[in-house]
Amino acid sequence: MGDFRLTRTLDENAAEAALRTDVREGLTGSPKSLPPKWFYDARGSELFEEITRLPEYYPTRAEREILLERAGEIAAVSGARTLVELGSGSSEKTRHLIEALPALDTYIPVDVSESALRGAADVLLSDRPGLRVHALVADFTRPLALPPTPGPRLVVFLGGTIGNLRPAERAAFLASVRAMLSPGDALLMGTDLVKDEAVLVAAYDDARGVTAEFNRNVLAVIDRELGADFHTADFAHVAVWNREQEWMEMRLRARTDALVKIRALDLVVPFAAGEEILTEVSAKFRQEGVRDELASAGLELTQWWADREGRFALSLSVAAAAAATEDADVREGARRGVGTAPSGAGADVTAA
Ligand code: SAH
Ligand code: TRP
Repeated sequence: MGDFRLTRTLDENAAEAALRTDVREGLTGSPKSLPPKWFYDARGSELFEEITRLPEYYPTRAEREILLERAGEIAAVSGARTLVELGSGSSEKTRHLIEALPALDTYIPVDVSESALRGAADVLLSDRPGLRVHALVADFTRPLALPPTPGPRLVVFLGGTIGNLRPAERAAFLASVRAMLSPGDALLMGTDLVKDEAVLVAAYDDARGVTAEFNRNVLAVIDRELGADFHTADFAHVAVWNREQEWMEMRLRARTDALVKIRALDLVVPFAAGEEILTEVSAKFRQEGVRDELASAGLELTQWWADREGRFALSLSVAAAAAATEDADVREGARRGVGTAPSGAGADVTAA
């Protein structure tokens, strides 16, 4: 088989320490919450793949439709020799882009789920044995050190995953992506769009209950990793459209009063019947909002493609020219925001 490398930037101790901190902070706060990246153990990644095939879950099909239609155009504009994908999961849709990029040298999928990265690489390398695949097990909200690879570089962020970040996190994230881009590089990002509430709620509360099982999986992860005794069946899946914030909220609602012990934290978490844990938001966008958020991070939207039904959009953006940037301080701030991650042309770095 082809050239495959996998680098873990999160050692197991660091990951477990992060989980402890997140769970302690999230479950002792009010209202209770948990950060979404802990959904994705091997089982969670499998359940997400099942979600993408549900009749109610339109985002994957809508995004694939756009990619199939525009892959040639994206490839022509970008001419990428390195493709970096953040939150790549199964890389299933990305294949269409890879096929359209004959000059592609290296694919760098970045995900917290090692099982998803390995599964994706197997499939990609059997299709395209000449491709170099350098997978990174990493948290894309943290400073990212990319291996040295040839430009131009195309960074892709699909699935509407940007919507799983809060506005302040999105600003920091986009600034860090901006800092990865040299002249000639581009960002391709998928955003789910604001639409009818019933369509949105169904996409996050499917009839077969796969999304419910996915949501509850985060409790199973905490039970296993931190010795907790959540009875996952005692929590109901709730999906609500928040009209003010224009985001979907995924919550887990305690069906009864409960005291949940978390051994590794030496903590008992009380739940009143009906009390909820907020596990995920999934923001929905409008073109103006995406353009503004990109601009605030020093990125200029150059293309916007929606699917035929106007449900989902892909945007292509590039580093804004200095003169076109309203406030040069924003870009300076963006650069500083990436901490130890290097920026600028020819940043040759090995993984931390
Ligand atoms: N891009 C794929 C998968 C989207 S699901 C698609 O469009 O279908 C979101 C993916 O991001 C999952 O594979 C999950 O494991 C990963 N992920 C979530 N939070 C992450 C984080 N903080 N850092 C890296 N990967 C993350
Ligand atoms: N990025 C996906 C989305 O926002 C993740 C997702 C789909 C999800 N269904 C979910 C997260 C249900 C939590 C619960 O569409």
